[in-house]
Amino acid sequence: QGRDMPGQLPDLSMKQPSDNTDNQTINTKETALPIPPLLKDHDPDPGKAEFHLTAQNATKEFVPGKKTETMGYNGNYLGPVIRVHKGQEVSVKVKNKLDDMTTIHWHGLEVDGDEDGGPHSGIQPRESWSPEFKIEQPAATLWYHPHPEQETGKQVYKGLAGLFLIEDEVSDRLDIPKEYGVDDVPLVLQDKRFDSDGRIDYDLGMRDVMNGLQGNTMLVNGAVNPFLKVPRGMVRLRLLNGSNASVYELNFNNNQSFHQIASDGGFLEEPEEMDKIILGPAERAEILVDFSDLKKGETVQLENKGSEFMKFKAKGGDPEDYTIPTKLTTVDKIDPDQAVKTRKFAFEGMGPRVNINGKQFDADRIDEELKMNDTEIWEITNESGMGMMGGMMHPFHMHGVQFQVLDRDGDPPPANETGWKDTVLVNPDEKVRVIATFKHPGEFMYHCHILEHEDAGMMGQFEVEE
Ligand code: C2O
Ligand code: CU
Ligand code: CU
Repeated sequence: QGRDMPGQLPDLSMKQPSDNTDNQTINTKETALPIPPLLKDHDPDPGKAEFHLTAQNATKEFVPGKKTETMGYNGNYLGPVIRVHKGQEVSVKVKNKLDDMTTIHWHGLEVDGDEDGGPHSGIQPRESWSPEFKIEQPAATLWYHPHPEQETGKQVYKGLAGLFLIEDEVSDRLDIPKEYGVDDVPLVLQDKRFDSDGRIDYDLGMRDVMNGLQGNTMLVNGAVNPFLKVPRGMVRLRLLNGSNASVYELNFNNNQSFHQIASDGGFLEEPEEMDKIILGPAERAEILVDFSDLKKGETVQLENKGSEFMKFKAKGGDPEDYTIPTKLTTVDKIDPDQAVKTRKFAFEGMGPRVNINGKQFDADRIDEELKMNDTEIWEITNESGMGMMGGMMHPFHMHGVQFQVLDRDGDPPPANETGWKDTVLVNPDEKVRVIATFKHPGEFMYHCHILEHEDAGMMGQFEVEE
């Protein structure tokens, strides 16, 4: 039943300390949930797709009458949704109209290191970058975001992030809601700390350096206090934890259950019924929620750790009859006996000294060398909590590959972690083993996806050699 998380969770309810200036939660009237537009494909060839993205400075009124400086792709906050089909050859023209260097990383996408958009693929102001890659992985809800060395936290916090959806023969065939923005709805979840002028400055206080920047106001697709009108039936929500550092614990205020159908890298084999879902930074989940009991005008709220932040309002009409598919897809389990090697990664240190295996990030150092097409087990431990202070969770992410979770402290993972993943939460003192086959050559990152930890150096590089 959902993910059983032992260990301590960072306490989001704690007030921010006084070294972060004033930090009131803003209260605004409810607004219709913005639905990020699907990005236009400029290539008429159905086997290909060409997209254009521009990273730019902008302003946005989160609080009516107060202008907030932001960054966005093609707009003033977040970015459009890129939707591709398996088998397509994709090219993206990325322009940097920011004043700072940026990169654009395809989080969860299986591509060569040169196309991955990590810190080595810097795009200087007024310059462009045009990666090309073929989509060779199953249907999934992935995302894209900047990745410049030591600046990722700031640029994502200011608004640079977007969804990257892959469809395939399985998602085409399955009888699940697929009308984008109507019953197939993306929810990019983030939290911010607004000051009294409505600004979201990226000023890190001591607590932020330790735990990562955790805000006190939730945004969904960039909106505070949003509502979504839902049909009287089944709705598919594509959830992304797009926060810098917060672990979300999500449930509905009426405690209704829902079914998780996909994790980071694609569909689970079977829908998993749960009434609460935990999502660490960068993790995604697709869930099916049944709103057929709601009469016109009735509402249900989505909560994080007991605080409501988004409403679903019933449009009314006759309740729709729908059965959840019993089988979604087949996830071929990678056999641990095929692994040629086990590597160990230990999250260590705190605050400015966070590291992996005792080393902080160095762009000129390759930490791990792998051979293409090898299968390996990566064993991740969280030893950052040793010593005087209690530990915290760190979300481990690796680029260019999807993995499977073998076990948590020797126990099989919960059912909703039995599919493809690219980011996994590691609890204090826990040992998580994952397995992957590295099919793409090049240089890639692995890191903690708490962006302030990543920027502080809790990141390393692996090279896959052809
Ligand atoms: Cu979401 Cu290194 O990435
Ligand atoms: Cu990534
Ligand atoms: Cu971390």
